[in-house]
Amino acid sequence: MTIKIKEPKRIVIDTDPGVDDAVAILLALKHPNLQVEALTTVAGNVDVEHTTTNALGILKLAGRSDIPVYRGADKPLERKTAHASDAHGDTGLGGVALDTEGVDTATGEAAQFIVDYTREHPDEITLVPIGPLTNIAKAVTLDPSIVDRVPELVIMGGAEFTGNITPSAEFNFWYDPHAADIVMRAGFKKITMVGLDATSQAFMSPGTRDLLRRLQDPIAQFIYDITEEYADFYWERRRLVGAELCDALAVAAMVDEAVLEFVDANVEICVDGLCEGRSVVARTERYRDRTKNAAVGTRVDTKRFFELLLNTLFPEHEAEMAPIITHEYR
Ligand code: BDR
Ligand code: CA
Repeated sequence: MTIKIKEPKRIVIDTDPGVDDAVAILLALKHPNLQVEALTTVAGNVDVEHTTTNALGILKLAGRSDIPVYRGADKPLERKTAHASDAHGDTGLGGVALDTEGVDTATGEAAQFIVDYTREHPDEITLVPIGPLTNIAKAVTLDPSIVDRVPELVIMGGAEFTGNITPSAEFNFWYDPHAADIVMRAGFKKITMVGLDATSQAFMSPGTRDLLRRLQDPIAQFIYDITEEYADFYWERRRLVGAELCDALAVAAMVDEAVLEFVDANVEICVDGLCEGRSVVARTERYRDRTKNAAVGTRVDTKRFFELLLNTLFPEHEAEMAPIITHEYR
């Protein structure tokens, strides 16, 4: 797979690492068409102390401690906190503790940083929230004009037809539905929503996981290790073997438009009640009176996604990985 090198998209990733967040961040750091300018952290999968430590540790592992990390919201705007440590482990990375010696957060709070940085660089910074939308909603509240200077928001969250934390809600939107509601109604120029309908097709097979272990590469071993408990969760809860790489799909969709198909939609969020956190996706081709506020991911080219992910992370193994990827995702 040849990557067509383009002017890199400048991004800030808002994240709650998180097993799949870790894979997403590593992909973004390594892809030549993306330039990660900062990470902002948020409580979600685990508390914000752990998501922040994990963000710092992931950057150190990747040799990119030059990238600043801004700590963000420690709880949802209104709802009470409830983490996803059953899937991601108590510390967020499936029991793996990363070395963070000598690295610390930048001075400043995440939402304020997002406001300030997009003011300094209008129309240049794509925001990539792959956790609950609390920081982004706070940034919108601090400065509603932010919507005019962010070219695109690429969100992992929501779903058209399914849920994971409840039958009708996806975790990130459910964790802070009021924040998701603010963001969806804020008037951003372009929102790309990569929800569960798409991410359920970005499922790493056990064979692919096993391949990672054999590459003799520290990043591959790290992904193998952090996905162990995560895969157990998918088996115990859903009787699925493998690991869903939700957040990594959102990053992949930014660099290869053939990975994911989209439909235009009007997306609204249920903030309470039985369907709390649900994203109601009205496709504008069917609901013609509704105004588009997002492009929502639908069909994934799964083989292409894994080629992109693995070849970007481990280019020196491309030839030996090719037949395995073909076997696993044909
Ligand atoms: C999303 O929720 C989190 O558990 C994952 O990191 C991902 O961002 C999937 O619903
Ligand atoms: Ca996440």
